[in-house]
Amino acid sequence: MKNLTLNALIIVTSMAAASGALAQDAAAGKTSFNKCLACHAIGEGAKNKVGPELNGIDGRKSGTAPDYNYSDANKNSGITWNEAQFKEYIKDPKAKIPGTKMAFAGIKNEKEINDLWAFISQYDKDGKTK
Ligand code: HEC
Repeated sequence: MKNLTLNALIIVTSMAAASGALAQDAAAGKTSFNKCLACHAIGEGAKNKVGPELNGIDGRKSGTAPDYNYSDANKNSGITWNEAQFKEYIKDPKAKIPGTKMAFAGIKNEKEINDLWAFISQYDKDGKTK
């Protein structure tokens, strides 16, 4: 009986630790997003800048931000953005979408990419965090 209680305690504690780690990732991702801010907005009221606004990117088809003038390469890439697609893209945008006009070398660090996705994917299409 004593053991059972202890096990339950361990499970609860490790679950709390896991959700804590997730929150941190999004916070770190917000810092990383500073690299994107010159060209991209996200959140409520986000507007297209040099690049399209990135609200609701999880599940959004490439090249579909309203009123943004995409390159044909981006528009016709056939990508539906999700975690895997985004992570591959942001490592080396020009390799994933040859001919893209996104002038960004990419991010190589896996943890930074994970954090960035945790941050960006929080936003739904209205720029509200889920
Ligand atoms: C120098 C400006 C610039 C920077 C910096 C930049 N981007 Fe972009 N991004 C663009 C442009 C321009 C496009 C549109 C590309 C096209 O139409 O070919 C784009 C497109 C995208 C797309 C595809 C959107 C869609 O609707 O299909 C994603 C996702 C994206 N950028 C994410 C990022 C992230 C995340 C960062 C930061 C790590 C970043 N970008 C940094 C300019 C930039």
